[in-house]
Amino acid sequence: MSLESVRYSRGSLQVLNQLLLPHTSQYDPVSGVREGAEVIRTMKVRGAPAIAIVGSLSLAVELSSHPLKQVSDLLTFVRESMELLVGARPTAVNMKKASDELNSFLAGEAEKPGVTAQGLTESAIQWAESLLEQDVKDNQMIGDLGAQHILETTQAPGGVCIMTHCNTGSLATAGYGTALGVIRSLHSLGRLSHVFCTETRPYNQGSRLTAYELVYEKMPATLITDSMAAVTMRERHVNAVVVGADRVVANGDTANKVGTYQLAITAKYHGIPFYVAAPSTSCDLSLPTGASIVIEERPSHELTDINGIRVAAPGIGVWNPAFDVTPHELITGIITEIGVFKPGELKAGLSRGLEKRSIV
Ligand code: MRU
Repeated sequence: MSLESVRYSRGSLQVLNQLLLPHTSQYDPVSGVREGAEVIRTMKVRGAPAIAIVGSLSLAVELSSHPLKQVSDLLTFVRESMELLVGARPTAVNMKKASDELNSFLAGEAEKPGVTAQGLTESAIQWAESLLEQDVKDNQMIGDLGAQHILETTQAPGGVCIMTHCNTGSLATAGYGTALGVIRSLHSLGRLSHVFCTETRPYNQGSRLTAYELVYEKMPATLITDSMAAVTMRERHVNAVVVGADRVVANGDTANKVGTYQLAITAKYHGIPFYVAAPSTSCDLSLPTGASIVIEERPSHELTDINGIRVAAPGIGVWNPAFDVTPHELITGIITEIGVFKPGELKAGLSRGLEKRSIV
C-alpha cells in the first residue's frame, strides 16, 4: 500500500504531518475550515492536489459537525470558507478551481425546487468526498500515459533514467502521484533504470519526502543537491526530467517548485526532454501566459534555519519565492490524465478532452 497523505471518513479528517517526516509518522486531526487553512499554510500538508483535497474535506467535516439550517447561510458559509482556503497558498490553482466549482455547483442546486439546507449540505459533502477518488484515478492515468510516452520516445532498452524535483508523490496528492506517478508506472513496468531526486532547497521536499517515498517503494534512486543537476545530467545518462506543476496556464508556461526553471534550462542544454506531469485540475486556461501567476513568498527562516538552528549569517537579507515559472519553450510535453500535449496544443487538447468527459 502506498503512503497516505490524508485519512478521511465521514465527519473525520486527519492529515499526515509532513513537517515531521521522514522521522515521525503522525496524523493530525483537522476539525474544520480554520484548521484546514492552517495545516495548508504551515505546510503540514502540501502539493497542489493535496491542498485542494484537504481544504475541501476540511469544509466537509465542518459541515458534518455544524450543519446550517438556512440555504442562504450555507451558501455564504461555503463561499467564505473557500475564500479563506484559497488564500492559504495562492500559487497552486487546484484550491481556487475547487472553490469555483463547488460554489457554482451549489448555486445551481440551490435553484432546484424543494431544496433544503440539509440536502444541499449532503451534496457539498459528497462533492468534496468525490475529489479523493477522482485524484487517484487521474494520477494513475497520468502515470500510465506518461510512462508509455517516454518509453515510445526514448531509446533506452535497459530502462529509463529520470530526474525529478520536489515531491509529487502520494504525499502531494490523494495517492499515486503525478511526476512520481509516471516514475511509479515505469517502475511497475520494469522499465525504470534509476531516479535522481533533487534535495529541493529550501524546504527539502526532495530529501525528506520524495526520498522517503522512493525508499518506501523500493525504487532504484539517488539523492542529489539542486546544484548537482547539471553534472548529473552530463555524467549519469538522464533520459528525461519529469516534474509536477502548481499551475499550468493556456500557453503551457508552468509554475512549479522554485528550481524547476533552472532544471528546464539545464535539460535543454543537454538535449534531455523535459516533461511536466499535472492533472487538469492544475491547469488554468484562464491565464494566457505565466506572467500573471502570483508567486507565493515564504518566510525567511525556511532558508536561514534548519530544524530550528540558524545556519545563515545573521543580518543577511533573504528572498524566498516558493515557486518559479518555466517558459513553455523549455517544456517538451505536458502529461495530463487526458493526454500528453506539446505546450502549444494544451489548450485545445485539454478543452476537447474535458468536454468529452463531461458528456460521457
Ligand atoms: O511548496 P509545495 O511543497 O506545496 O510545492 C509542491 C510542488 O511544487 C509540486 O511539484 C506541485 O504542487 C505538484 S504536486 C503533485
